[in-house]
Amino acid sequence: MLKITTSAKDISEIPKKYCRLVLTSDAPSKHRFVELSDGSTEYRLGRGKAEEVTMRTFRTLVRSIVQTMKSHQVSEVAIKVEDLRFSTLSEQGGAWLLSTIAENLLLADYEFTTYKTKKKKETTLKEVLLVGELSKEEVAALKRGQVVAECANQARDIANTPACDLTPKDLGEAAKSLAKGTKIAVKVLGEAELKKLKMGALLAVGQGTKNETKLIVLEYWGAGKPSAKDTSKKPLVLIGKGVTYDTGGLNVKPSGFMHDMHMDMSGGAAVLASITAAAKLGLNKNIIALVPAAENAISAEAMRAGDIVTAMNGKTVEVLHTDAEGRMILADALTYSERYNPKAILDVATLTGAALVALGQQASAIMTKDEKLQSTLMKLGEESGDLVWPLPLWDEYKASLKSTRADISNIATNFSRFGGSIEGGTFLSFFAPKGVPWTHIDMAPRMDSIASDKLAKGATGEPVRLLVKYLEQA
Ligand code: BES
Ligand code: MN
Ligand code: ZN
Repeated sequence: MLKITTSAKDISEIPKKYCRLVLTSDAPSKHRFVELSDGSTEYRLGRGKAEEVTMRTFRTLVRSIVQTMKSHQVSEVAIKVEDLRFSTLSEQGGAWLLSTIAENLLLADYEFTTYKTKKKKETTLKEVLLVGELSKEEVAALKRGQVVAECANQARDIANTPACDLTPKDLGEAAKSLAKGTKIAVKVLGEAELKKLKMGALLAVGQGTKNETKLIVLEYWGAGKPSAKDTSKKPLVLIGKGVTYDTGGLNVKPSGFMHDMHMDMSGGAAVLASITAAAKLGLNKNIIALVPAAENAISAEAMRAGDIVTAMNGKTVEVLHTDAEGRMILADALTYSERYNPKAILDVATLTGAALVALGQQASAIMTKDEKLQSTLMKLGEESGDLVWPLPLWDEYKASLKSTRADISNIATNFSRFGGSIEGGTFLSFFAPKGVPWTHIDMAPRMDSIASDKLAKGATGEPVRLLVKYLEQA
């Protein structure tokens, strides 16, 4: 793994084995490798006009450093921190800067190689040396950024793993291995317990496979367990969709729309990684992560379109479409969260293809009635790089889910495809505990990376950076 080191020396005193990165005012497309007469090497990378650097372009710049170093087979690079202190970013402060540098170096370095039988050796970037004076706060932020990125990369590993090797049980094991060495307590409930809890919606989704449905529960009492009267220590609850494979069920997905559905647990992986990061950072907060995990398979035992199931909160759900399974498993997790008397609830899910129709692949959709939560998440999204954009959750949308045969149907009763993401959020709103600030994050747009991300193909590790930032300030 890429090592990030620091030195307070002058760049002229740094050993020659380090390639020196020189940022120029040229366009980012201009870059070249230079061998100097003293045997040292320099890499000149265009960063565009310094006065035009933004938080967004800065993250891309940091990532492109890793990409170019790898493509030139540089294994050690030295960068002057001073060159990265852009005046346009001074308002963000040194802690933001150093954390952002660490996060994006490591995110850009990530590759998913588990299933490659020939490992590349030469092209690995081993060390980035940051040269220059750092304040105590900046040193801490550099460490923070590394923890956050390592956790996000672990979420990517989990999300990238094919469903044949990542069943709900395996996801529970992954949660335990993440939590190892931290103060997080992990519990994995199986089908017998879920039946006792009357989680009919979660169980229905997983009934078509022998891979047992699970509810993965992680508890981190960083502020100490609250007593019954004590409302100051109420936990923050994160809920992540853990569909380990989504065939669509009997309403089967067409070919071309199924192959990447092993990543339909990306929300689950993200919340597991986020609570782990919080514990590793020693946050003085109480945090719960809930991951309902099920495989939406096809078999004679699978739930049918037209089935009616009873969710944990007693509401009956008409399954009009077996491919709208994510909202069903989240519904029972939302009801389960009530026992924690949460301060706030955030659910993260690859819930709808419609979110990609609405936003493209640049941002996750957020849906909440809590304006403060919405503006906080938008701001933290901009600062962290895990961008989010709001869609409405107006009461008017509720009518479309009023079932003729049951209390509520899992898609619009007229099969309308309009406003599909809002429909998903609206369904969840029937199950979110009353009076608790809650937001739904539809991360389907960010499940897979795109070229402009400058990340490896596959999982992005979003929205781990956003969730950690949220937990830190909540
Ligand atoms: N997991 C999918 C949504 C999805 C699609 C995520 C593409 C990432 C990329 C979800 O379970 C689903 O199938 N949603 C349906 C909902 C519909 C049946 C109302 C969809 O988006 O078509
Ligand atoms: Mn589906
Ligand atoms: Zn799904």
